[in-house]
Amino acid sequence: MLEGKNIVLGVCGSIAAYKSALLVRLLVKAGAHVQVVMTPDATNFITPLTLSTLSKNPALVNYFKPDTGEWNNHVELGIWADMLIIAPASANTLAKMANGLCDNLLLAVYLSAKCPVYFAPAMDLDMWLHPATRNNVSKLQSFGNTLIAPGNGELASGLYGEGRLAEPDEIVDYLSSALKKKLLLANQKVVVTAGPTYEAIDPVRFIGNHSSGKMGFAIADELATMGADVILITGPTAQVSKQYNVKRIDVTSAAEMLTACEHNFKDAKVCVMSAAVADYTPTHVAQQKIKKQDTGFNIELKKTTDILKFLGEQKAEGQLLVGFALETNDEEENAINKLKRKNLDFIVLNSLNDAGAGFKSDTNKITIIDRNLQKTVFELKSKDAVAHDICLKIAQLLKE
Ligand code: CTP
Repeated sequence: MLEGKNIVLGVCGSIAAYKSALLVRLLVKAGAHVQVVMTPDATNFITPLTLSTLSKNPALVNYFKPDTGEWNNHVELGIWADMLIIAPASANTLAKMANGLCDNLLLAVYLSAKCPVYFAPAMDLDMWLHPATRNNVSKLQSFGNTLIAPGNGELASGLYGEGRLAEPDEIVDYLSSALKKKLLLANQKVVVTAGPTYEAIDPVRFIGNHSSGKMGFAIADELATMGADVILITGPTAQVSKQYNVKRIDVTSAAEMLTACEHNFKDAKVCVMSAAVADYTPTHVAQQKIKKQDTGFNIELKKTTDILKFLGEQKAEGQLLVGFALETNDEEENAINKLKRKNLDFIVLNSLNDAGAGFKSDTNKITIIDRNLQKTVFELKSKDAVAHDICLKIAQLLKE
């Protein structure tokens, strides 16, 4: 999978930098073109000569070549790279990346890179567990950078715990399988909806629901790791996407979600409608805050457009439409009705009777029923693992 790939390997000042020699060797052996960029401190742990020899390319440290004064063009490097891997990534470099600092060549390449970025941290246990580091890692993930998690074991300090750089062969395996996965949906445009919708009653009140958006965001991220160009249309939520190829469109109401879906579905290959769209919206939205009265209070509601059904009517040959059904009774019968009524390729059924399934939890238990009424029942899993199952079904149907 790495054959012919242009890889910039960033090496930081950490004792684990000694492992970068083996990593370079494995990448070159796998057929990749490797350009090493070191932070100045990394040179205290391993020499540029070692990494230049193994990568067959002069390892770069400074903005200028010390002998000729020639410029090391970080922008060109950022464009040249198919992947940027920072291994080992020190706590200091992670903090600088998370905050956009740019005081060495590696950071300038990082800021210029247009390719997927992977970072494999290495540091002592307490540094790794510090809230500042945790925060920096989450921030980098929210930029779409991928964490290759450190391992557990004896650390250079003598402590035991998490913080050890992932082994070079594990890093190479990780990169290869990420590339392999990418081929499944490479460059396909997909639309995913997530979260609740809010239907305004007046300028301060709305009708909403408990959807957290977790399932939709997990699906969007998973489709992105399979190489799809994802348009994520989301209602109000605190979720953040972890993938760089997810373009987020924020909406509030069912009507706004409909407009965004209609606009984006036309040239999309797939649409996964996991949002909890309001079925009703107030007939009139008060322009000013409604004052309380001594009597009761009624709000007149009108139906919203069923977006999924609308898309099912527009669906062209070769497009794939996936819906969700959250049921409390006669689950399969209701789900099959929706599948047919909305012209879906498959429906993902959740039952509120299953413990661990539902809006706010981190887990879900699903049954997939496809257009041939073929049924697959899955175990209770994390929402990320459920997203993987759903996306594999999408990839399988696209192949057919
Ligand atoms: N959905 C939609 N637009 C709506 C309502 C729902 O696109 N206005 C989509 C949801 O995103 C989900 C699927 O339809 O994928 C199932 O939603 P649900 O509300 O359960 O379906 P209904 O047909 O409205 O059935 P019910 O009688 O259970 O409310």
